[in-house]
Amino acid sequence: MKSSKLEKIQKEDKLYLFQNYGNRLPVCFVKGDGSYLFDQDNKRYIDFFSGIAVTSLGSNNAALSRALHTQVDKILHSSNWFFNREQIEAAKLISELTFPGKTLFVNSGTEANEAAIKAARRYGKSIAPEKYEIISFSGSFHGRTFGAMSATAQEKIRKGFDPLVPGFRFLPFNDIGALKKELESNNKICAVMTELIQGEGGIKIADSQFITQLEKLCKKHKVLLIIDEVQTGAGRTGQFCSYQHFGISPDIITFAKGLAGGFPIGALHAKDAVAPLLEPGSHGTTFGGNHFACAAAAAVLKELKKKSFMEKVQKNGDFIRNHITKLKAKGSCITEVRGMGLHIGIELNRPGMDMVKKALEYGLVINCTSEKVIRIMPALTISPGTIKEGLAIFDRLIIEEGNKS
Ligand SMILES: Cc1ncc(COP(=O)(O)O)c(C=O)c1O
Repeated sequence: MKSSKLEKIQKEDKLYLFQNYGNRLPVCFVKGDGSYLFDQDNKRYIDFFSGIAVTSLGSNNAALSRALHTQVDKILHSSNWFFNREQIEAAKLISELTFPGKTLFVNSGTEANEAAIKAARRYGKSIAPEKYEIISFSGSFHGRTFGAMSATAQEKIRKGFDPLVPGFRFLPFNDIGALKKELESNNKICAVMTELIQGEGGIKIADSQFITQLEKLCKKHKVLLIIDEVQTGAGRTGQFCSYQHFGISPDIITFAKGLAGGFPIGALHAKDAVAPLLEPGSHGTTFGGNHFACAAAAAVLKELKKKSFMEKVQKNGDFIRNHITKLKAKGSCITEVRGMGLHIGIELNRPGMDMVKKALEYGLVINCTSEKVIRIMPALTISPGTIKEGLAIFDRLIIEEGNKS
């Protein structure tokens, strides 16, 4: 029986909102506590999704709530016409967790990538006027503004928005030969922009050899290396950033999603030599880096810096992957289990949306991307007990799917 509260919400959604999210699932969350969510009828769910890897400390986290309440009583916004202590604090923490450099705060992942694209164009033009092309890879997702969308290879994102921004080239992901050939024959390239684990592309991990060669080739050809850490950053993979698993040194990294634990933010962190390319007046945003967003980011970053935080993320991620790999071995609908830390993809031999809907019925929030890949991205703070509770539901879903075939 459909809840009357939900029916009313669904009706009003249709009446008042753009239907670009026309495939919303039939739940309206109204409250959260740690890794539990509660819907309009107070039904409880285990959250294995954290709002697309955003609520990195879970819902209602004490440290984050405290920081936000303190900040709300002080100041929310003043503008980038003025100095801002919260920006400095958050940027300092990002430098400590990554590499010495400079940070620019924006409001979303797409905006962070947009700013990276602008910095890359400036970098290229500082060498030669025609050095403005940017390489990205098949399966990539970098956002939905025109620049970030033009850097996104997935056709379904670009479809119907022609003409896009010129100067973007797509090469096959994980194909170092193709990259080498392009960089050797095309001196117009100013940057390579890539995820190291393609999130929206189905949790596809770049080969470590590809990554180290990519870094070498970029250095050799004086091409900036931009790593999109929007989904993989802020501790998601069991290191602060995914690039840190591979020992490379990117020129620019971009963040958003989990960085402020649920408050909208984006950031671009770049080596000291890169930052001056966006000189005064060349870029800006009204809201970007406001006191509240940066106080949230600083609170999250301080938690992530705590001893053993990342080890726990890795350990919990290994536990989930091992558990699901055993399910796969039992001959189920699972064809592959991938991921690092708490950024996990489970490829099925069939579309996964029915399983996502069934999971909601059973009180578990999971997600499906790239049609057949179930994504599990719980809060980084999820407890082993809650993981086991969620996995028990997941086991049931897999068994029921198996019975169908
Ligand atoms: C890797 C990556 N880059 C960029 C974006 C765009 O971020 P936002 O939705 O905050 O604009 C996303 C969003 O899913 C992403 O996964």
